[in-house]
Amino acid sequence: MLDTFALFPTEGPPPAGPLRVPSVLHLIGNTPLLEITRLSTDIAPSVRVYAKLEGFNPGGSVKDRPALCMIQKGIENGALTPDKIILDSTSGNTGIALAMIGAVLGYPVELCIPANVSIERKKIISAYGAKMIFSSPMDGSDGALELCRERLQEHPERYFKPDQYFNPHNSLAHYQTTGPELWWQTKEQITHFVAGMGTGGTLMGTGRYLKEKNADIQIVGVEPDDAFHGLEGLKHMDSSIVPGIYHEEQLDRKISVSTEDAYETVYRLGREEGVLVGQSSGAAMWAALQVAREIDQGMVVTLFPDFGDKYLSTNLWIGWKEYNQRQANARAEGAA
Ligand SMILES: Cc1ncc(COP(=O)(O)O)c(C=O)c1O
Repeated sequence: MLDTFALFPTEGPPPAGPLRVPSVLHLIGNTPLLEITRLSTDIAPSVRVYAKLEGFNPGGSVKDRPALCMIQKGIENGALTPDKIILDSTSGNTGIALAMIGAVLGYPVELCIPANVSIERKKIISAYGAKMIFSSPMDGSDGALELCRERLQEHPERYFKPDQYFNPHNSLAHYQTTGPELWWQTKEQITHFVAGMGTGGTLMGTGRYLKEKNADIQIVGVEPDDAFHGLEGLKHMDSSIVPGIYHEEQLDRKISVSTEDAYETVYRLGREEGVLVGQSSGAAMWAALQVAREIDQGMVVTLFPDFGDKYLSTNLWIGWKEYNQRQANARAEGAA
């Protein structure tokens, strides 16, 4: 049983933390590490499993880190000047992060996105004041990419394009922040780092930092098991254009996860751990548990890129109804 009085102390000074900050950008990073206890009951007693909750970033995802780093470096090296517009072709978490950071720093942001992205995303992006330019829903993310390329070619002097798939400052953000945070939060005890791969920035940057601290730490990449998957944010590398910042040889291992297993893990995380996350977190958790089951001793750490509220209108939660039905049927069969 949890001691809730210890969670909310009534005596003594308030807990240390960012009580007062000059801008929302100062709240990026330093996210908490949560021990996973209910989903990990079938592992050896001296194996611990943790998840870094990146949904606590102010833009709601891990992408606040690389977006800030790419913009800061762009300003530093003169590529992003005050007269320029930040332009990219991402409807996902990077788009939201760019929109938020652009609002704070006073840069206009334009995002080329497929017209059929979820209503939550469109509303979040426009709430930050960013402009959306819609590409045909039939052309998917490649259509948005093409539209972005055309705009850039027409007026290269007008735009700054962070280009997260090829920008080394994407992984640098994780080398400089996510890696050191995990090393410190685990008191140098981390033995495995397991994370999903989209651009590969999280895994490359965090992995490089951890390997420099202890070459024995295993770096495990997680990807969808199929080109046609429902794991938003993740890439099936063999069937995709490989991101320029992704170097597979730096991984110790890759684990493929099915959409069904990832979704089911999301449902269990909500119901059993009280953590509502997105589908890529479900995939990362599933793979981390797989790793944890194989060892006798160690500390397996994964990373949940975001929380689940952006996905409430997606297939993830349409599948939840079926899952509940299956669970109810199984319970009824057990009782019979
Ligand atoms: C929800 C989600 N999960 C995972 C990832 C993958 O992170 P990375 O690009 O660092 O590989 C992303 C990236 O956009 C994401 O939005």
